[in-house]
Amino acid sequence: MCGIVGAVAQRDVVEILIDGLHRLEYRGYDSAGVAVLGEDKTMQIVRRVGKVKSLEQAVNAKPLLGGTGIAHTRWATHGEPSEINAHPHRSGHIAVVHNGIIENYQELKEQLQTRGYMFQSQTDTEVIAHLVEWELRSAKTLLEAVQKAVVQLRGAYGTVVMNEQDPERLIVARSGSPLVIGYGVGENFLASDPLALLSVTRRFTYLEEGDVAEITRRTVSIFNRVGEPVEREIHEGNFEADAADKGQYRHYMQKEIFEQPVAIINTLDGRIKDGKVDIQSIAPNAVEILSNVQHVQIVACGTSYNAGMVARYWFESIAGVSCDVEIASEFRYRKFVTRPNSLLITLSQSGETADTLAALRLAKESGYMAAMTICNVASSSLVRESDFAFMTKAGVEIGVASTKAFTTQLTCLLLLNVALGRLNGHVSEEQEHHIVQALQRLPTQIESALVFDKQIEKLSEDFADKHHTLFLGRGEYYPIAMESALKLKEISYIHAEAYAAGELKHGPLALIDSEMPVVVVAPENDLLEKVKSNIEEVRARGGQLYVFADNDAGFENATGFKTIVLPKVDEVTAPIFYTVPLQLLSYHIAIIKGTDVDQPRNLAKAVTVE
Ligand code: AGP
Ligand code: GLU
Repeated sequence: MCGIVGAVAQRDVVEILIDGLHRLEYRGYDSAGVAVLGEDKTMQIVRRVGKVKSLEQAVNAKPLLGGTGIAHTRWATHGEPSEINAHPHRSGHIAVVHNGIIENYQELKEQLQTRGYMFQSQTDTEVIAHLVEWELRSAKTLLEAVQKAVVQLRGAYGTVVMNEQDPERLIVARSGSPLVIGYGVGENFLASDPLALLSVTRRFTYLEEGDVAEITRRTVSIFNRVGEPVEREIHEGNFEADAADKGQYRHYMQKEIFEQPVAIINTLDGRIKDGKVDIQSIAPNAVEILSNVQHVQIVACGTSYNAGMVARYWFESIAGVSCDVEIASEFRYRKFVTRPNSLLITLSQSGETADTLAALRLAKESGYMAAMTICNVASSSLVRESDFAFMTKAGVEIGVASTKAFTTQLTCLLLLNVALGRLNGHVSEEQEHHIVQALQRLPTQIESALVFDKQIEKLSEDFADKHHTLFLGRGEYYPIAMESALKLKEISYIHAEAYAAGELKHGPLALIDSEMPVVVVAPENDLLEKVKSNIEEVRARGGQLYVFADNDAGFENATGFKTIVLPKVDEVTAPIFYTVPLQLLSYHIAIIKGTDVDQPRNLAKAVTVE
């Protein structure tokens, strides 16, 4: 689930491996390790709990040298984060790193124990090392041994195997956990994410499900799940070189919040022509597909799910199409009825979220007319496996807490609504112009929200000693409240919940007292009077209110609670706009609490295990 880097070269690769691990740090992890084969052909392994920095110090102190090596950042699934459980794992001359989960590890472990293997760790991964060691006893090559081993594994893996006695090759295998091969000159690399290899190459091949590949300094041979040699395309990466650079910002999350105007400009770029949505820019056959859509099923996790929840309001009010939204881990395990002419939409920043990917695969067999993904990573599994992809162009998102991916997903979803609504006659020309203009104004409006940074920072001081926070909103602002609560709990570790404001009196009102901060999103719109009544309900019970509103909402002279009064913006895009000051609130509360903002505890950037 976390990071893998590997290299076969004539030069020392330790620095490349450690640099790669640093580049993957944003994904969140709990321990790290490296194994290299030096000139004397003996394998050296160094592992550390905690940051890559401490692994780096240990490696430098040793010092470690070698031309073939593998490295890993672990996000524990089986066994506590400890040095013994950190990867690489070893069996005889074999060393292995692994991302994912081996579901039948217990069964394999028992089998291997009867063959005399002793297990050092509590991980599921260690079975791979012993299994390859076992198969190598009868196989002619390391490749054959790995092929024989992986067919026995159930679950998800991206794995790399190195053999001390065959030092000039690495064998990699992928099933459910991404791996890329990076091509150099007289040297080759691999990683779980191309970002890890940007200092050494821009030429990549993405392995497909079931692929096993053999990598030497000069050759890369790829075999499909039935062992046939296959050619896979080489992509020349057009990656943003500065993606991994924080620039003037203290955290990636802060940088990514401030990048949102540009991320939205990029997402709109090429999608609007003559004041209208260019439907062809969604997909070459979008007109044909979207013309027949009668129902939309959105499936996603976390922040992406919250974006889907906002879009549900839009699909029914703008495009006039019924819409259901479901958390992928629920959708994939229940019996569902596919409605006629139903479009499946997965939403994902990473495109590798295991539950969302599984839901897509299931939906493809369940009679959906098409599967579309709105995704931020062009090379991801979701993009490759969907019928078509509408890319958010947010740029690389590094902070574990998703920010610009959310607002660009909403931008794409609004464009899609206009396209659908125009094709089914629900959106008039005038309405289309109005929404398109609102989207074009949005980046500047977000700039004006970012100006409130200092004011929000001041407000955040009130939350630092709190243990709970409630977020309230109505209509599209209910999912915006959900997203704000998710942001706050992720990065500040303050327990936060969101409620549709009208639901307060059905239970949560019991929680209100002078210790309970209540954040309300209350822009001027048709529901404002209702929200104001909810504000009074909280105020009457002594709750501490923080109201995010606009200058038409009539809160300027409000007493008894604190307000952030933002400029009035277009109603249709206002949910995207309000997301930004609320992201800033969470960010500043986390800063005061001194948490690890970019890599909050227990979380990972791309959740490639279920
Ligand atoms: C967002 O802040 C979270 N870290 C998380 O909920 C995330 O949105 C979720 O895991 C889905 O990821 P995806 O968008 O890459 O599919
Ligand atoms: N399941 C393995 C473990 O717990 C791999 C975890 C990971 O993907 O980092 O060690």
